[in-house]
Amino acid sequence: MNPFLWREPLIILGKASHFLPKWKGEERLKLFQADLHDEGSFDEAVKGCDGVFHIAASMEFSIREQADIESYVQSNIIDPAIKGTLNLLKSCTRTKSVKRVVLTSSISTITAKDTNGNWIPVVDESCQVQVDHVWNTRASGWVYVLSKLLTEEAAFKFANKHGLDLVSVITTTVAGPFLTSTVPSSIRVLLSPITGDPEFFPILNAVNTRIGSIGLVHIDDICNVHIFLMQHPRAQGRYMCCAVNCHMSKLVHLLAEAYPSVNMQRTTASDNGNIPSEISSKKLKDLGFEYKYGVLDIIDETISNSDGSKFKPSVATCMEASYSLWDSSFTL
Ligand SMILES: NC(=O)c1ccc[n+]([C@@H]2O[C@H](COP(=O)([O-])OP(=O)(O)OC[C@H]3O[C@@H](n4cnc5c(N)ncnc54)[C@H](OP(=O)(O)O)[C@@H]3O)[C@@H](O)[C@H]2O)c1
Repeated sequence: MNPFLWREPLIILGKASHFLPKWKGEERLKLFQADLHDEGSFDEAVKGCDGVFHIAASMEFSIREQADIESYVQSNIIDPAIKGTLNLLKSCTRTKSVKRVVLTSSISTITAKDTNGNWIPVVDESCQVQVDHVWNTRASGWVYVLSKLLTEEAAFKFANKHGLDLVSVITTTVAGPFLTSTVPSSIRVLLSPITGDPEFFPILNAVNTRIGSIGLVHIDDICNVHIFLMQHPRAQGRYMCCAVNCHMSKLVHLLAEAYPSVNMQRTTASDNGNIPSEISSKKLKDLGFEYKYGVLDIIDETISNSDGSKFKPSVATCMEASYSLWDSSFTL
C-alpha cells in the first residue's frame, strides 16, 4: 500500500480537504507529514511499504538574475533537490520491505537535437540533455531542467550502490482533470498559448525549441504508467511516457477550437510542414502498456475542467498577450 504523503501539519490539510471527502478507499489511505529536506522524515511513511512512488519535487522554473548565479542555483536549488531525493531513498533502504521505487522524471531531461543541433527523428530515453548545455544556454525553465536531470542521475547512482530497484518515468506535459484547488503548473503551461501567461508560455516555448513539438499525456495514463511500472517484473531503468506529440501550431489550433471565439487567422506561427521528431514510448509499449487517451481527450478535459475554476481565461484579452509573446519567442 502506498501512503499519501503530506508535508504540512495534518491539522491544516488545506490542500487535501476538498478532495479527501471524495475518497472511497476507506482505511487504504493514510496521511503522513514529511518533508524531503528532513532526513528520516519519510521513515514512518515508507515503513512496511512494498513500493514507493517518488513524485514530489520543487517546481521552481526560473531564478532572478544575480551575481554568481551558478553557485546560487547549485547550493539553493540543485543540492537541496538531490539531498531531498536521497533522503527519501535512504528511508526506503532503511525499511527492508520496499521492493521498488518509481521516480517521476521529466521530458525536460530530454532533447530532440543531437550535438550538432540537428533534429533526431526518433527521440527515446537515450536522448538526454547535456548538463553543460543547460548551464551554458540557460533557456526558460533551465533551473528545473538541471534539478530534474541531476536528481534523477543521483537517484540511479544511489540505487545502484545500495541495490535498490529504481525505475523512472520520463513524463511529458500532464493534463486533463485536476483535483487541486489551484490550477497546476502543467495546465498553465499547456494553456499558455491562449492565456498568454508570461510566466508559463516561455516554458512551453522552451520545450518546443528543445523537442520540436509538445508531448502530452493524460493524468489517468501517467498514473497508470506509474502503477504499471511498479508492478511489472521486467521494468528497469528509464521509460519515456508520451501519449501524443504535436507541433506547437497544431496544439494552438486545437486549443483555439476548444475556445471557438478565438480568431485563428491572427496566428502568425507555422510549422512549415515539418514533421516533428517521434517521442517514442516504444520501451514502455513493448512492456505491454497502452495509452487510453488521445490529444482531443486531453485538451477537452483540460479545458472543461479549467472552465470550472477561476482560471478560465478571457480569450480576447489573452490572445493579444499570447501573440506578442509568439512574435518574440516562437521558434520551430
Ligand atoms: N505536471 C507535468 O506536466 C510534469 C511533467 C514532467 C514531470 N513532472 C514531474 O511530476 C512531479 C509532480 O509534478 P506536478 O506537476 O504534479 O507538480 P506539483 O503539483 O507542484 O507537485 C509537486 C509536489 O511536490 C511536493 N513537494 C515539493 N517540495 C517538497 C518537499 N520538500 N517535501 C515534500 N514534498 C514536496 C509539493 O508539495 P506542496 O504542495 O506541499 O508544496 C507538491 O505536492 C514532479 O516530479 C515533476 O517534476 C510533471
